[in-house]
Amino acid sequence: MPEKIIDINDLCHTFSDGYIGLKAICVSIYKGEFIILAGKNGSGKTTFLRHLNGLLQSDSGQIRVKGHSVSNHLIQTRKTIGMVFQDADTQIVGDTVFDEVAFGLENLKFSRADITAKVTQALKGLSLFHLQDRTPSSLSGGEKRRLAIAGILVMDPEVIVFDEPFSNLDYPGTIQVLTTIIALNQSGHTIIIATHDIETVICEATRVIIMENGQIKEDGTPADLVKHLESYGVKEPCSSKFGLGIQPWRS
Ligand SMILES: Nc1ncnc2c1ncn2[C@@H]1O[C@H](COP(=O)(O)OP(=O)(O)OP(=O)(O)O)[C@@H](O)[C@H]1O
Ligand SMILES: [Mg+2]
Repeated sequence: MPEKIIDINDLCHTFSDGYIGLKAICVSIYKGEFIILAGKNGSGKTTFLRHLNGLLQSDSGQIRVKGHSVSNHLIQTRKTIGMVFQDADTQIVGDTVFDEVAFGLENLKFSRADITAKVTQALKGLSLFHLQDRTPSSLSGGEKRRLAIAGILVMDPEVIVFDEPFSNLDYPGTIQVLTTIIALNQSGHTIIIATHDIETVICEATRVIIMENGQIKEDGTPADLVKHLESYGVKEPCSSKFGLGIQPWRS
């Protein structure tokens, strides 16, 4: 049995205006899984993901990461779970692309030589090395998304959460991000992706979780749930619709 990394029990979240964002979420996530979090706009995906590394506080229920309560072990949790946000701009803190990726390593007091080696590897892996001296604000939307991923990758978290990683990316940009995510999963990282682009990743996923109105409505394998997607407002992949099952999106 793979190691249980995240254990969530009866998690509820009410926003300050009284809106109930999450209702009694119970779910366990295991090492090496590749999970798609699906659901229409406003179903609670981002709210759920923000709880995973303590960015939101629940009204009730527990989240444990590697056996420890997230609220009591925030730093350890954030080392274990890296998060690439829906809006790449909100994550940018450095003056240059290089500094942006180096930021987390500098906080952890890595040596200059280690920082240079790790940042160079992450930038090359995401085809950003030639942009290392540019200001992050001058990058295109797709380049900013790749930069946000590089900033998380360089910290080597066990679990990487992606909130809408493919939005606004062109075809090559999508392939590059998808290839990076697949390689991360193959090297043992646990992946959780909230996306509307089910077609792009379903072939790689081991599990699909469908949310609606702040609740988990379905949780199962891609093969079992692919025909249920449209009843929750999520597009079924074309290959499945046309009787060809689940097919890889990349050639
Ligand atoms: N700070 C807030 N105060 C009140 N309601 C909020 C707040 N943040 C989010 N919500 C509401 O909670 C619900 C869930 O939002 P969330 O961002 O989790 O949805 P989502 O599934 O990620 O949607 P999308 O696919 O559009 O990204 C929405 O109805 C949203 O308006
Ligand atoms: Mg969202």
